[in-house]
Parts: sequence; structure tokens; C-alpha cells
Amino acid sequence: MKSVRALVALALILHPPAAVAAPDWFPHSNMMTIGVYYYPEAWPESQWARDMANMKGMGMEFVHMGEFAWAFMEPEEGNFQFDWLEKNVALASQAGLKVVLCTPSATPPIWLTRKHPEILMVDAAGRRMNHGGRQQADWSSPVYREYVNKIDAALANRFGHDPRVWGWQIDNELSHYEKEFSYSPAATVKFRAFLREKYGTIGRFNTDWGTAFWSMVFQNFDQIEIPNQLDHPALPNPHAQLDFNRWFAREAADYLRMQATTLRRNGATGQWITTNYMAMYPNVDPTLSTKDLDLFTWTHYPVHGDLFPENGPLGFRLGSGAVQSFMHDFMRPINGISGLMELQPGQVNWGAINPWPQPGAIHMWILRAFGAGARIVCTYRYRQPAFGNEQYHKGLVETDGVTPSPGGREFSEAAADMVKLRAQYRPDAKEPAAHAKRRTAFLINFDNRWDIEIHKQTTRWDTQAHWMKYYRALKSMMAPVDVVTEDRDLSQYPFVVAPAYQLADAALIAKWTAYARNGGHLVLTARTGQKDRRGHFPETLWAQQIYPLIGARIPIYDLLPGNIEGHVTADGVRHTWGSWADVLEPEPGTTTLATYADQFYAGKAAAVTRKLGKGTVTYIGVDTLTGDLELALLRKVYAATAPASLKPDFLVDWRDGFWVATNFTSTPQPIPARPTTQLLIGTRTVPPGGVAVWQE
Ligand code: GAL
Repeated sequence: MKSVRALVALALILHPPAAVAAPDWFPHSNMMTIGVYYYPEAWPESQWARDMANMKGMGMEFVHMGEFAWAFMEPEEGNFQFDWLEKNVALASQAGLKVVLCTPSATPPIWLTRKHPEILMVDAAGRRMNHGGRQQADWSSPVYREYVNKIDAALANRFGHDPRVWGWQIDNELSHYEKEFSYSPAATVKFRAFLREKYGTIGRFNTDWGTAFWSMVFQNFDQIEIPNQLDHPALPNPHAQLDFNRWFAREAADYLRMQATTLRRNGATGQWITTNYMAMYPNVDPTLSTKDLDLFTWTHYPVHGDLFPENGPLGFRLGSGAVQSFMHDFMRPINGISGLMELQPGQVNWGAINPWPQPGAIHMWILRAFGAGARIVCTYRYRQPAFGNEQYHKGLVETDGVTPSPGGREFSEAAADMVKLRAQYRPDAKEPAAHAKRRTAFLINFDNRWDIEIHKQTTRWDTQAHWMKYYRALKSMMAPVDVVTEDRDLSQYPFVVAPAYQLADAALIAKWTAYARNGGHLVLTARTGQKDRRGHFPETLWAQQIYPLIGARIPIYDLLPGNIEGHVTADGVRHTWGSWADVLEPEPGTTTLATYADQFYAGKAAAVTRKLGKGTVTYIGVDTLTGDLELALLRKVYAATAPASLKPDFLVDWRDGFWVATNFTSTPQPIPARPTTQLLIGTRTVPPGGVAVWQE
């Protein structure tokens, strides 16, 4: 037995596995598992056993520990102290909780920072960060990476083969928070290496960065710096910014890959590995880590002072249904296994204003995760801290350390729901055909988002808001949505929506064309196809590369200043826009769906559709204020699927045989169930912040 293990270990060292093709970490019949963050290093040892038992008593199934505990894991260089953690692993296991452990790379200890100040990130103004907060280290520093690898290896050696440990989280919300990027010498060296590899010659590099303009020409790669607005009286080169965004996302993915490899090489092969991505964070691209992680998780704090007026007067207590649903639909398709690693258990401390969530909303968010296919939901955090940066942050228990908080009670309620739903789980449940008919790929490419940000042209444009107009419309029709990247096989989706796709090339347009010809329904939106992948305009007419596909020309686009409003009519209904309007000229055979009602181009097309082969292509060139036109036009595209007509943000999904309705609106909503259907959870009219679950 031993020698077999040794051989396996040797094989693993020679060929460290990529993300292991799933041992059954998340059995389908369990559907979703609920857990909680705990910081034993911050509480007296005498309370650990009590706390673990209480977590279990509240219905939690796993405990998450260690992501900020480097100073306790390695109090001096090379002196690894894991006994305290091991005690907690044992206590958790005795209490019946699975354990998630973390790499502590978000919080380097003081001895490391003082010995090697070069591991600290440098902000745009050239200031090196300091000890006393978190996320201050530079992922590009080779010295930092060495220390991270050592602590990760030590952790994996100690806990990698431990069956009580279920999985691992790498780092914490990979980002530098407000400081965004590091401009350190180490980052600069790696950025240059990326450019050298990408372009090969300085000549090609100069062409693609368009350095002929303003005499920016570089003579060699070592002259290049990270683009930094503080270094320039004018704007930095846009191609430099786009390449920097690309490099930064790859560097983050590389840092994750390094840690995942170290964990697996040192024993964490039978345990899953994830990282907790920040919701909607634009600078780190989770899809770059598809092969490195086993589970894709993210963090969410829906109520933190934002108003979400689209959800009515209770929006600020309910959070954005669209963003929450979109993030699930983005993370799930990456490899099919996803979850929420942090979910707010009550008030947070870091918003400008921190309101109390609507009673019931926390329970609703957990059930929303269930409906969206999540395998885990975990809450940050078990105990409200008595001291430190996050003092005013609620936990599952009150400041006395034992009494369940209102949010804690909602977590317990959701945990009890899961027990009930598991009893009704039917392994052979088939997705209803009417639902599958509306399956939609929502296509994104981070390059578009970055490039639009660099060249916005109007402060009234908001890419995320533009996406959400389409996404809310799709969910109101009860379309199941996968937010996916271009490399996907689109043929399994009857519909594809690709919003604001600024960068395109012949291969992508050929893929879209073939998709439509073969019977797919493609929806493209404003600002699509303007540039090539470098971010250059092709030497053609404006966005000409998409004309044959959309069956129309785009001679001009318009943007309105201040609060000036433009209008569009479709089917006799008037809609208002302010940010972006592509003015279209349809070719013969293309049908106009919406027409500009004012400005000097009144009467010209704002949206068009055409048949192409067995499918259709629709181009919606205007971005309306509320998304009402987008909804009306999508309903036409989906007409043959008998789309539902839910109030946007009353979200209803199908998962494993269960229909799950969650109400993010401020008014009660009726569920779309047969009158005779018995509900498993909730009522037929769902109150704001409420939930209903049924099977039919
Ligand atoms: C998250 C972070 C956690 C904690 C939490 C507080 O963004 O990952 O560590 O700080 O916010 O709400």
C-alpha cells in the first residue's frame, strides 16, 4: 500500500494534476451545502469547541478558516505553527463540520514585510504600501511568491491528506482594493516580459501600440513602463492600457495557478481548490483559471447603501437581483461547479451608509443561490468582531458570541430548507422543454469592457448597466442564461446575446454567421464591431466588418450631452435614450424594429432584424435609459418560445427538478405555477424579499 502511495506521489510531482476531474466533492443529491467563516485566532481557545458546536446547531455544514492567519501559522520565518489550526480542524470534525482551509497570502506577517519591503505593492503615486492592513503585497514579486509557496507547501503537507479537510481557498478576493494595481519594479519587469512575448519585435509592438502618434516610439522593451495616468499630463496610450489590463488579469491567474500547483504538489490532491472572486470586479478574469480551479466561488454583499431604484423603494434593503443572478450565471458555466463563498449575514461596516437588509432577504439570497445552481453558500462571518477593522460587521451570532443574530436565524432557516429539499431530490428530474427552448448564451469578453472604459466617448455610458438591461429582460422571460466566453460551442444555445462587443475579428464574425445560418438567434447591441482585436479601427467604413452579418450599415453614432434625451419609437411606443445611438441603414431584406423619433436623423433605424440561413440576427443600436425598448425587442426575438412575462427582478429558475422564485422587487409577485401545485417553501404570492419553491 505504502509503495503504491509513494509511486502516486512521485507521479504527482512529475505531473502535477490540473484541476482533478471531480472526485465526488459535491454529490448531486446534496445539491447545496451551507457554511460559515470562523477566525479561531481571534477568540480564546476556551471558546472554540463551544463555537463549533453552536455553528453545527445552527445548521451549518462546513467551517472556513485561515485566510488571514499567516502571523499565527508562521510567527517567525520558517517556524510553522499549525497545532492551533489542527485543534480547530479536529473540533470542527467532532462537531460534524467539514473544513475549508485557506492560503493566507492576503496578509503577509510583519517579519516578512520588514525583512523584504520589496514584496509590498507600489501605488500609482509611487508609494510603497506598508504593514497594518491587508492585500498590500505584490503578486509579481518573486521574493513574495517564494514565501507564499513555502507557507502553502507547509500547509498542504500538514493538511493535504487530511480527510477532515474538504477543500482550499487561495488568497482572498484577489485584488488590491482601492489601489487596484501595483506599479512596482517587479510588476514592470513582468509586464515587459508579457509584451516581449506577445510582440516579438519592437517594430511590431510600435505598430500595434500606435506609437507613431505623438512620437511615442519605443526603441526597446526595457524602456516601457506600466501606463500610469499620474505620469502623464495627457491621457496614456489606449493600446498600452488595454495590454496592461490583459497582462494584469493574466498575472492574477498566474498567481492563482502557482498557489494551486503548490498545494497539489504537496498533498492537496483529494481536496478541491477555489478562490473567492469579487463580484463584478472588472480586472480579474475567472475564466482564465478554468483549468486551475475545481470550484468557482465569489463574494457578495448585496446591501451596502446602494439604492437599486429599479427594484423599487425597498431596493436598498434587497440588493440587485440582476447582479446577483448574473454572477451565478457567469461563475456556474466556467466548469459547472460554483458557489457563493461570502454572503452578507446582516449589516456590513464598509459602505458609505450601512442599512439593515430587509427581513427575509438573507434567506432569499441563499435560496437564489440554490435556484441558480450553486453547490455551496458560505457566510462571512460567524462572530461579529469585538475589535479590529470590521467591528460593525454583523455575524451569525451577536456580540455575546452565542446568540443567533437575525441574519443567523435566516441562515438556519435556509439550512433547514436544504434538508427538506434534499428529501425531495429526484435524480431523474428533466429540465422542462419550454424552459430549455429559451436557453441563452450571454457572450462576454473582458477586452470589450476594458476597451470601452478606455474610450468611453460619453460619461453616460455604463457597460455593466448596459449588460443588465439585457440580462434583466432575459430573466423576466424566464430564459436560462449562461454567461460565457467566445471559445464556447454556441450551437447548444437557441439564443446568443452579445452586448457592446467593441472588438471583433473575421473569425468571430464567421462564428456568429455560422451560428445564425444553422438556426441560432443572435442579438448584437450598440458599439459592436468597431475595432479589431488590437483596438485599431480597420481601414474600412465604420464597423463595416459586421454589415454583412446584421444586414445594415452604421453611417454614424450619436451621444447626447447633459440631460438631453432622444427618443425612439417601436410598435407605437416611445422610448428614451441618452448614452449611445448607432444610426442604422438597413439593406434590402432587413426589417426595421425601432426608429429614431427626433434629432437630425429622425426616421432612421435604431434596431433591425433579418433572417440569415435558418436563424436570425438582430442589432439593437440604441441604449435606452431604462432598458424598456431592449425588453420589448427581446420579447419579439423570443416570441416563438412563449416567453414568460415576469416583473423584472422577480427571478424564477429551475434547478434539479425544483422551481425557485425569489422576489427582489418591492411589490408582492404571483408565482408562475399551476394552480394545483403544492409549494415546498413559501406562498403563491411572494412578498418582497420572499421565496417560493415547488416541483411540477
Ligand atoms: C469581503 C472580504 C472579507 C471581509 C468582507 C466584509 O470583501 O473578502 O474578508 O472583509 O468583505 O464585508
